[in-house]
Amino acid sequence: MEKQNRQPAVLFRNVRGSAVPVVTNLFGHRDRLALALDTTGDKLNQVYREREKRLIPPVVVAAGPIQERVLTGNDVDLTTLPIVHHNSGDAGAYITAGVTTVRDPETGIRNAGMYRFMLKDKNRMLVHLAEASHVFYIHRKYCERKQNMPIAVTIGAHPLFHLGSLSFCSIDTDEYAIMGGLFGGAQEIVKCTSVDLDVPAHGEICLEGYIDFEKREPEGPFGEWHTLYGDPMNNPVVTITAMTMRRDPIYHDLCSGAADHQLLGGISRLGQIYNQVRWPAQGSGTSTCPLPDAAGQPATSRSRSSSKGSRPTGPRRSFRRIRSSGTPSLSTTTSTSSMRPRYCGSSI
Ligand SMILES: Cc1cc2nc3c(=O)[nH]c(=O)nc-3n(C[C@H](O)[C@H](O)[C@H](O)COP(=O)(O)O)c2cc1C
Repeated sequence: MEKQNRQPAVLFRNVRGSAVPVVTNLFGHRDRLALALDTTGDKLNQVYREREKRLIPPVVVAAGPIQERVLTGNDVDLTTLPIVHHNSGDAGAYITAGVTTVRDPETGIRNAGMYRFMLKDKNRMLVHLAEASHVFYIHRKYCERKQNMPIAVTIGAHPLFHLGSLSFCSIDTDEYAIMGGLFGGAQEIVKCTSVDLDVPAHGEICLEGYIDFEKREPEGPFGEWHTLYGDPMNNPVVTITAMTMRRDPIYHDLCSGAADHQLLGGISRLGQIYNQVRWPAQGSGTSTCPLPDAAGQPATSRSRSSSKGSRPTGPRRSFRRIRSSGTPSLSTTTSTSSMRPRYCGSSI
């Protein structure tokens, strides 16, 4: 459908290998993301930037639909979920649209973000935490203390829960308060059943557990956001201690590298770029980078900044192109999916 320039959200009710329906491509169109903020596609970035600054802490409620069913011990079975194997060259089935919540062991401040999880077995997964993410830094603190890091992965929640988790805020900011700002009111959260964390009361599914402080196993290859396969890496092992969900949950999937991914990830990133450019432009009066006007129209003249700056360096990773084409599948079968370089245009 993307090849035909169509971007509907798609709901699969009859899914091979699982009783749980799958929804995907929820974020594949700017207008749908804009609906979440009660605005229109042309104002999406501006409205996000404005509301991202308002912090409204969440409120804890006694119960919520996300805990209508609670599975613990031997009843935890990740393979009952319709976790999708997206590309022929992926190492396995991946959870791609979960929002992960952790807590900084020093400050107690919550942190949320989206990270991919590769299914290992009934109760284990592997997680990819990029060196630049706050959660990587927080996990390192747990490793130094030789403690496992409690996590809660919410699958299926209001789009603003995703957008708030992707904010480029400081590590000292509770991203749940950013979500409240985006909502324009306190978000209702419930206490997890087996870890000291909270998740949105009105979510669909939550995976509670911990990221091991020392165990690492090969994760990947996986077709990443840039539409190329990243090489396998030794990544932390996740153990799931409880699965909670609605009585009739819907599993939320996202195709990595598709518009669904790029648009979702792009909103906060564009806000960050805008704020970075705007700061020197306002402060010094000598900016070489004219800003769009209030209506979002691009400035008429542009010149390149001469500053080269220095970029942080990390481990070198290699990527190879994803070649095959076909449809994604559940973990039980292997099929192929086309991933080609594409540009998902979005105005600041
Ligand atoms: C769909 C999607 C998938 C992502 N997958 C990963 C991932 O696997 N690992 C990672 O480190 N960041 C991933 N990111 C980026 C992080 O979620 C993003 O940088 C977030 O702001 C990190 O939050 P943090 O800095 O608070 O940890 C993903 C983003 C999106 C939109």
